Amino acid sequence: MRKILITGGAGYVGSVLTPYLLKKGYEITVLDLMIYGNDVLKRDKKLSIINGDIRDINLLEKIIPGHDAIIHLACISNDPSFELNPDLGKSINFDAFEPLVNISKKSKIKRFINASTSSVYGIKKEKNVDETMELKPLTDYSKYKADCEKILDKFNDSSFCAVTLRPATVCGYSPRQRLDVIVNILTNLAYHKREISIFGGGQLRPNIHINDMIRAYELMLTSEDKKISGKIFNVGFENRSVEEIARIVQDKVGKDVILNKTETNDNRSYHISSEKVKKELNFSCKFNISDAVSDLINKFENKVFKNPLTNERYFNIKTMKKLNLK
Ligand SMILES: NC(=O)c1ccc[n+]([C@@H]2O[C@H](COP(=O)([O-])OP(=O)(O)OC[C@H]3O[C@@H](n4cnc5c(N)ncnc54)[C@H](O)[C@@H]3O)[C@@H](O)[C@H]2O)c1
Repeated sequence: MRKILITGGAGYVGSVLTPYLLKKGYEITVLDLMIYGNDVLKRDKKLSIINGDIRDINLLEKIIPGHDAIIHLACISNDPSFELNPDLGKSINFDAFEPLVNISKKSKIKRFINASTSSVYGIKKEKNVDETMELKPLTDYSKYKADCEKILDKFNDSSFCAVTLRPATVCGYSPRQRLDVIVNILTNLAYHKREISIFGGGQLRPNIHINDMIRAYELMLTSEDKKISGKIFNVGFENRSVEEIARIVQDKVGKDVILNKTETNDNRSYHISSEKVKKELNFSCKFNISDAVSDLINKFENKVFKNPLTNERYFNIKTMKKLNLK
């Protein structure tokens, strides 16, 4: 694998993954609508950036041939942004998927790496939610992710290696920062307001540090076909409770940070097992929530973000509301 196309390569995960893979010697094409800005990727002679839409079939037919692999990250990537305009969400997250895979296979792309989500499982009573368990997605965002996994599976064969990752919630710093995912939300509020509020607190939330997330995508490029072809892997590290996450944040940001707890009836827990990726591909995470919090504190100290509490570019839903994308 040498030439890689990353859809959504200018997003939160993509803008860390792209420079990481360039450093490792890959040639990268990024296809991205640049919803959150086009200033996050540094120029590089091995990088070509296309400001375009995965729904544009003519564009896909033009740019896909010549790549060895596709990492598909582009999407409307959280529940509130999806629900803001469900037709838009469906057109990007679901309708565009099969044509993208079909054109990739016709263009002799060898490997298709699909970003799903661990929220496809919905709420489970079992302690360790593994890849064999039934999917019960609770929202359209998760439901279409589950549907795309099934579509991809139909295309998998010896010439087209298709693999899906189901990531936990990602945390940590990225040049295209998201401050609307749990660890990042709490760190931002703790640092800038010196106060965080949680509802309940016992609910489990699986997390993965962004630097491990990109290692997992790299692993999907370097593993042998037979080890990943047609497979699905959960990738996560810490299934921590909301209160534990808040305590880690408080501990790192400062003891003066006030932690407010309110009772709630919504005690739904999400938790995943990442044993399969460990056993079959020897993947384990190297970073934890504490590292993500420290990285963000460092960026806050250095005033890297402009108005981190209010600037819409750090919050997907606020940007989507402003853009009114069709
Ligand atoms: N961040 C997480 O916690 C998390 C957890 C599980 C799964 N995922 C999945 O990982 C992937 C990346 O997530 P992220 O957090 O980097 O999201 P993100 O919203 O930061 O990035 C998505 C990128 O896709 C682009 N995009 C959207 N629609 C497009 C279109 N029609 N054509 C081309 N580009 C388009 C956006 O401009 C953006 O740069 C997504 O598929 C997401 O569902 C993320």
